[in-house]
Amino acid sequence: MSGRASGFGHAKVILLGEHAVVHGHPALAGALEMGYRATARRGRARLEVPAWGVAAHPGGSTDLDRAFEALLAPVDGAAVHVTVEPGVPSRAGLGSSAAMSVAVVRAIASLLGLEPGPAEIEAWAGRAEEVFHGAGKASGVDAAVACRGGVLRFVRGEPPGAVALDAPLPVVIAHVEPRATTAAMISRVAAAMDERPARVRDLFGRIGQLVGQAVLRVGCGDHAGLGELMNDSQRILADLGVSSAALDRACGLSLEAGALGAKLTGAGGGGCVIALAPGRQEQVARALEPLGTWVRATSVGSG
Ligand code: MEV
Repeated sequence: MSGRASGFGHAKVILLGEHAVVHGHPALAGALEMGYRATARRGRARLEVPAWGVAAHPGGSTDLDRAFEALLAPVDGAAVHVTVEPGVPSRAGLGSSAAMSVAVVRAIASLLGLEPGPAEIEAWAGRAEEVFHGAGKASGVDAAVACRGGVLRFVRGEPPGAVALDAPLPVVIAHVEPRATTAAMISRVAAAMDERPARVRDLFGRIGQLVGQAVLRVGCGDHAGLGELMNDSQRILADLGVSSAALDRACGLSLEAGALGAKLTGAGGGGCVIALAPGRQEQVARALEPLGTWVRATSVGSG
């Protein structure tokens, strides 16, 4: 057993299906090359994120303290010191908490000579997701992509299905504004469900149909078709009340700059837009730079 071990978790984007996936509909989500890296060594149980100037320990009262404690529980609270390097902004809709949790699990498991499979890693990381997002709230899609990479068709409670790609999808991602927590956005949608159940059920059903079509489009490399479905999805998410003026504006600017489709990604209420922009990444990134604190031309489907 070596003195140090590291682990990685992919950041993710939801191409289609956020929120509806919490309520049992399918989602199509993909991994970014970027993500979180964790390094573990034997020592006093502590998790540090130097880039954020924060540290956590079991028994503490912050979410990070409690999440770290939850991640140590399957190894009986082992004395492990973990350092985390974030590769994407947190609370932006990019699955940062799942990417961090998967990276930490992999680093701890590797240090202790354990070899958990993907389903075990997801369940283990899911303990921290429950702390960050609330028990039973998150669908599990973020942890599945953080762990498995690639592009996944995901249905809550089922094994994820890998969707084969000819090549990763060229996109631009821009973090346009801070956002509410995922838990708050999930609760907002639950409240909408209580107020107008038939309408929200209809919107979820339409999102589910778009996901079904998108799986086929992605599989045959039909970028134009996928872009249209993303635009349809953005309209539905706006109707659901999870978009914002800044997100709508970023989507509009992306399309004007030549993107084939653009939408919010993740829980919404702020956070990131994703624009599908084959051959136009530079132009779209330039158009979004004045709006975004973090703008990247990258690809979806790594891993
Ligand atoms: C996931 O990134 C966004 C939501 O769909 C929550 C979830 O699936 O856990 C809103």
